[in-house]
Amino acid sequence: MILIGFMGSGKTTVANVLGERLKRKVVEMDEEIAQYAGRSIPQIFNEEGENGFRKYEYEVLKDFSHTDAIISTGGGAVTFDDSFKIIKATDKKVIFLNADFELLYSRISGDSSRPLAGQPVEEVKRLYNSRISIYRDCCDLEIDTSPGLEETIQKIVDFME
Ligand code: S3P
Repeated sequence: MILIGFMGSGKTTVANVLGERLKRKVVEMDEEIAQYAGRSIPQIFNEEGENGFRKYEYEVLKDFSHTDAIISTGGGAVTFDDSFKIIKATDKKVIFLNADFELLYSRISGDSSRPLAGQPVEEVKRLYNSRISIYRDCCDLEIDTSPGLEETIQKIVDFME
């Protein structure tokens, strides 16, 4: 299973709960990238730019796409062509976690560990709007997560049965 969606959509939380319930390994891509590159995500953005970050992200996604782990992607993974192709072509189920922009933004504004969340709100909203159709293009299921974590988990468990 691959979880996709904008920053703040709850991918990591949902992946961890599902990992426990389904007894599956969970891969949090940002953590793997930081380990692989030996630096934090903001450091990678500072030193190599977003494109440098996307290349690490692709390498990590490529490696784990051959495992049966639950993969929690970073919100922008779908925007890098090679990563998009992996997500589009995989036979894993791809779940898109979505919510209104205002809710997502309230969870990520001021978070210094997310370089792209520190931009002016109009920019972050533009990013969200530009990504929606890409998430929809490569998902098997879209979930509105605003009813809460338990509802989201139940919808995914039902879908996977
Ligand atoms: C990004 C989302 C982040 C992280 C990086 C870039 C994005 O992951 O990969 O800061 O482009 O939306 P989360 O979606 O887990 O916050």
